[in-house]
Amino acid sequence: MAETQTLHDAFLDELKDAYDAEKQLTKALPKLANAATSPELRQAFEEHLEETNGHVEKLEQVFQGLDEKVRGKHCDGMAGIIDEGKNVMDEDFEGATLDACLIASAQRAEHYEMAAYGTMVAWAKAMGHNDAADLLQEILDEEKAADEKLNAIAESGVNEQAAAGMQEEESEDEDDGEEAAAPARGPRRAAAASMSKRAPRKGSKK
Ligand SMILES: [Fe+2]
Repeated sequence: MAETQTLHDAFLDELKDAYDAEKQLTKALPKLANAATSPELRQAFEEHLEETNGHVEKLEQVFQGLDEKVRGKHCDGMAGIIDEGKNVMDEDFEGATLDACLIASAQRAEHYEMAAYGTMVAWAKAMGHNDAADLLQEILDEEKAADEKLNAIAESGVNEQAAAGMQEEESEDEDDGEEAAAPARGPRRAAAASMSKRAPRKGSKK
């Protein structure tokens, strides 16, 4: 019978999972950057892509420091988060509404990573892998900073603009039925799309 697995084995599994998650993100972040309408948001995604490439390298250093082969193991969690992000991009959101949705998707990924790195730092410290703990803490700090930056962008106007576009659309619906039925542009159209999609969904659940 196989030997009982240790915390070290679990730690290696987490490292492999994180390595694969970072690699998945190096492919997803350029798509988020391309989809972003706000130049600031696009830049934030591009900068985090650079950091993410750095995370891949730091994880390689962690494996090497432990005399382990550099290996990934498919991270289902990150794949699911990325899939959901792709679904959002396939919807008809535009302008600030699209940006708000992209931020929401990216923050899910950041929080997933923060949870994973928080665990890995704690486990590395508990096992006395101090160099690994330091490298993992550096990654964790960058994930937290990226998350805070996304918060700042969302709260510096993206969410408000998206909400304002929706209110504009609502008042237009009340004022002028014909014009509201015509294709609107920018955030207004995005809001119209999000609202028209929301309505049938609610009904379809019943
Ligand atoms: Fe990362």
